[in-house]
Amino acid sequence: MANVFIVGAAGKVGSRLVKRLSDNDHQVTAMHRKPEQSDSLTGLGGKPCLLSITDASVDSLATAMKGADTVVFSAGAGGASVELTNAVDGEGLEKSVDAAQAAGVKRFILVSAFPDAGRGKHISETFENYMRVKRLADVYLAQSKLDWVILRPGTLTLEEGTGKVNAGLAIKYGDISRDDVAETLLAIIENEGISRKIIELTEGETPVREAIASVPA
Ligand SMILES: NC(=O)c1ccc[n+]([C@@H]2O[C@H](COP(=O)([O-])OP(=O)(O)OC[C@H]3O[C@@H](n4cnc5c(N)ncnc54)[C@H](OP(=O)(O)O)[C@@H]3O)[C@@H](O)[C@H]2O)c1
Repeated sequence: MANVFIVGAAGKVGSRLVKRLSDNDHQVTAMHRKPEQSDSLTGLGGKPCLLSITDASVDSLATAMKGADTVVFSAGAGGASVELTNAVDGEGLEKSVDAAQAAGVKRFILVSAFPDAGRGKHISETFENYMRVKRLADVYLAQSKLDWVILRPGTLTLEEGTGKVNAGLAIKYGDISRDDVAETLLAIIENEGISRKIIELTEGETPVREAIASVPA
């Protein structure tokens, strides 16, 4: 049984992961920033932890993470301003990595972005900054001493999950449902052999667990 701390637990990916972890008998602490999200996170089987990543110190985050063996970072400013993106997706990730190390957490899984996102389209200044910040977040985590996994999903949809994906070290760009992203995160959490890997993810034909198990060591 894993003991998982999720940053961004009330989000569309985060909440799907809270439910899957709890349904599979893992312990979940669900970090969220709005008091009104607490009841629904409890209903999904998580233990709510009210903290804002922009306001929290590394020390307070580390205290909240104590006892967890895995941190999943799925928070994001959702395409808001450059400043908020920098504060949540950028500095928020860096503080979480520092806190996880201070708290003695072993594994850290980051929901990042697919490098091809936006290619061939007009890219706004905010989106360009978002991609830059996501990339720097990957670099920060990959240079830490944590046992990390970076998951780079394609464009996220709200379609019902199929339980089948395409996962690999370098794959063609595509869409992926948030259900299937959450299912893939669960499979990664339950497969400790996946270590220090950047995994790209889109919809596909391979059952999630099989796809994750076949990512090259
Ligand atoms: N959209 C795409 O196509 C796409 C593609 C690849 C990767 N991604 C990444 O995938 C991740 C998850 O996506 P998603 O659809 O689940 O996004 P989401 O629904 O917007 O969830 C993000 C969560 O982060 C939380 N958050 C924002 N600011 C916070 C703060 N100061 N303190 C604590 N939590 C805060 C949000 O809180 P509230 O609920 O209070 O707003 C929300 O619950 C994001 O990092 C996103 O960048 C997105």
